[in-house]
Amino acid sequence: MAPDNRIALCPGTFDPVTNGHLDVITRTSAMYDQVIVAVVNLPWRKGSTVFSTEERVGFLKGATQGLTNVVVEPFSTLLVDFARERGAMAIVKGLRAISDFEYELEMNQLNRRQDPEIESVYLMASAKYSFLSSSGIKELATFGGEIDDLVPAEVASALKERLGR
Ligand code: PNS
Repeated sequence: MAPDNRIALCPGTFDPVTNGHLDVITRTSAMYDQVIVAVVNLPWRKGSTVFSTEERVGFLKGATQGLTNVVVEPFSTLLVDFARERGAMAIVKGLRAISDFEYELEMNQLNRRQDPEIESVYLMASAKYSFLSSSGIKELATFGGEIDDLVPAEVASALKERLGR
């Protein structure tokens, strides 16, 4: 039987959050009672993030303040451990293209192996965001590309300040 309070995690590094992420978070908030946006504190990949954990969490809090059932929290453990600790029943992520599928399939298998009770759910990206990625945004910002309609205003100005040449 489904729990009374259906909690989902929307996890990611969010370096930085894009309007594509926000689209997935908003759609998830319409399907679950509560959504926890889970921000990776210490990415395992080599190389640091452009924005600190506090900055990434702050951007997300600002951009989701109109969504009353969404909270934003950093985590430093395995994703499924964080999900279990928070009582989440699902991990919800967006899928843009076939290229995402391979990576997400692997993550799905890894996460399921750790905890088969936490389901991974994938939302197909809205067409207007199907090309959008945090790394693409950083590349555009570095070389002065137009990013204002792709990320929240606060993120656009922070990117221009931090990366603009
Ligand atoms: O798309 P991202 O930002 O690379 O995704 C991050 C995350 C945590 C969703 C992805 O790396 C994942 O599902 N990892 C599962 C393994 C795990 O728990 N790693 C520890 C946290 S990075």
